[in-house]
Amino acid sequence: EDPALIAAFEARVAADEFIEPKDWMPEAYRRTLTRQISQHAHSEIVGMLPEGNWLTRAPSLKRKAILLAKIQDEGGHGLYLYCAAETLGTSREQMIDALHSGRAKYSTIFNYPTLNWADIGAIGWLVDGAAIMNQVPLQRTSYGPYARAMVRVCKEESFHQRQGFDIMLAMANGSPAQKAMAQDALNRWWWPSLMMFGPSDDNSPNTAQSIRWRIKRETNDELRQKFVDATVPQAELLGLTIPDPALKWNEERGHYDFGEIEWDEFYAVVRGEGPTAKERMKARRAAWNDGAWVRAAADAHEAKRAARSAA
Ligand code: ACO
Repeated sequence: EDPALIAAFEARVAADEFIEPKDWMPEAYRRTLTRQISQHAHSEIVGMLPEGNWLTRAPSLKRKAILLAKIQDEGGHGLYLYCAAETLGTSREQMIDALHSGRAKYSTIFNYPTLNWADIGAIGWLVDGAAIMNQVPLQRTSYGPYARAMVRVCKEESFHQRQGFDIMLAMANGSPAQKAMAQDALNRWWWPSLMMFGPSDDNSPNTAQSIRWRIKRETNDELRQKFVDATVPQAELLGLTIPDPALKWNEERGHYDFGEIEWDEFYAVVRGEGPTAKERMKARRAAWNDGAWVRAAADAHEAKRAARSAA
């Protein structure tokens, strides 16, 4: 690669200019963006499954309508993100094939099961809460199409976080059995939510370069700390206990200290050994195969339309 081109690219990034699809960019920048955006897209799509599991069993029509809208939003996020990744030169078919053949990663969080309705509250509150913490800085990521996609995604994620908190609030203020369900969901989702931010900075192979290229604006550990600091008071308001005996306000640091993540579990889930990983991939492949006739019909319609306009 031409050093002059690299220098010009780096100067643009340093000046906080957006890099656009037709601009010159280093191959490694293109590769890591394709990697991150496609993983992000896959996460949105696979993320529809754990919540979809509770649509037919939502406790009221209102809760059902809200959950349905929220899951549709996630599908929309996946589609914007695939479009953003496609501008870097990889086709959607290639990305989807990488997911379905088990080569592509998606967020570990979606390989945990949703056992009851309280899990839907905990996902909205914690999982979408963690997603926003990570995605707000991505609105200023250096690649234009990714940054712009994040603006709308973040608006929708804030609504998702609130709907989850609202479910938790209703359950925490409900009967003792409901409150116990909310606590149990917090117990199961807390640590996996912290794992969403990725490995610690010391063990994160991509962070340093991604920060230099302004793809990432904050590191995994910085965002994880922000999430803990923001979430502890919310748990207190709910009257629920975060399942971490080491969690403690540190006056000197001005942050909460918290316990060590079970990294063995994190890496096992990244490798695809999560409790529901096989089920999730089976569901995605089945959806793709079941939708083949829709894609064929769309192609046939397009061919007829093109033939008509050529005539
Ligand atoms: N689940 C699965 N894989 C992960 C996770 C996780 N929670 N955290 C890190 N990894 C993977 C990385 O993708 C990377 O894989 P690769 O290099 O083989 O492609 C590897 O572990 C090492 O991690 P890092 O070097 O820290 O990787 P990176 O700099 O990409 O940081 C992060 C990871 C923070 C997830 C980043 O990619 C990011 O911000 N992505 C956009 C947000 C996103 O994808 N959110 C998905 C969940 S939110 C939602 O969908 C509702």
